[in-house]
Amino acid sequence: MTQIPLIIDTDPGIDDAVALSFALFHPDVDLRLITTVAGNVSVSKTTANALKLVQYFDQDVPVARGCSEPLIKAFEDCADIHGESGMDGFDFGEIKKDALPIHAVEALRETILASEKKVTLMPIAALTNIALLFKMYPEVKENIAEIILMGGSLARGNTTTAAEFNIFTDPEAADIVFKAGIPLRMIGLDVTSTAVLMKEQIDQIKTLNRAGEMFGKLFSHYRGGSMKTGLKMHDVCAFAALVEPEIFTFQKTHVAIETGDGPANGMTVADLKMKYHQNTNASVALTVDVTRFREWFLETLARVK
Ligand code: RIB
Ligand code: CA
Repeated sequence: MTQIPLIIDTDPGIDDAVALSFALFHPDVDLRLITTVAGNVSVSKTTANALKLVQYFDQDVPVARGCSEPLIKAFEDCADIHGESGMDGFDFGEIKKDALPIHAVEALRETILASEKKVTLMPIAALTNIALLFKMYPEVKENIAEIILMGGSLARGNTTTAAEFNIFTDPEAADIVFKAGIPLRMIGLDVTSTAVLMKEQIDQIKTLNRAGEMFGKLFSHYRGGSMKTGLKMHDVCAFAALVEPEIFTFQKTHVAIETGDGPANGMTVADLKMKYHQNTNASVALTVDVTRFREWFLETLARVK
C-alpha cells in the first residue's frame, strides 16, 4: 500500500499525544507536518508538547505553531482535563527542537502545494488554522484528498449541553471548514466517548513498551473519563478512521454549525433525515466496534518505538 500523505492539526492534549505517536510510526501514513493551535491549553504549550513528542520519539517531522486564539470568540482552554502543561504526568526533559520559523498556515500551504499526492488533513482541535488556510489560500483545496476530524457530536456535547469542545472553541472556523467543499469525515463525541480504555487495557499498555509506559503516566493525569468508566480516546478515533475505517460505520449527511449566541452555540446540527438539505457535506461516524478498537489500539501501540 502506498503511504497516505498526512498533516495533523492538533492541541496536545493527552489524547492528541496518543494520536500523534501512532501517526509517527504507522506504516500506512507519511506524517509530513504537525501544526498546533490553541485549544486544550495555550498555543505555546501545545507547540511545546508537539515538540516534546517528536523529540521523545526522535522523529524528524516538522512542527509549526499556529493561532493563539479563535477567529472571533474569546479563547477558553480545558487544562482541567489535560493538566496545566497539557500533557501532565511525564517529564519529557528539556526541549531542544525548534518549531518552524513560519506560521502554521504558511507551513500548511507550502506542504500541501508541494505534495506530489493529495494530502489528508486531520484536525483534532479547534479549526482556526484550517479555516484561515482556506480563506488565505483557497488554491490548496485542489491538493487535499480529505479532511478527517475529531469534533462535534450527533448527541450531547462535553463543553455545553449542545457543543463539543473543538467546535465550541471556534464555531466560525468550523462553519468555514464544513462549507469548504472538501470531502470530510466527522468523528464526533457520541462515537469517541464509546471508544474508551478500561483498566484491563491500561495495565497492558503500561508494560507494553516505552511509549506505553509514557502513556500510562500521562493517563494518570488525564480527566477525559475515569478508570471506572474508561478513558476516552477522542483523537485516536480520528486516526483509526483513517487507517482502520472498517471498525466504524458512517453516514453521508449535511452538517451545519450553529454560530449564533445562546445555548446551541457550537452545535453540529446533522440533518440525518436530509429533511432540510439537498446536498451532503460530511460523512459522520455513527458507531465504532469498541472491541476491535481496543485490539487495534494495542496492535498500533506495539509499533510505536
Ligand atoms: O472534545 C474532545 C476534543 O477536545 C479532543 O480533541 C480533545 O483533545 C480536545 O481537544
Ligand atoms: Ca485535541
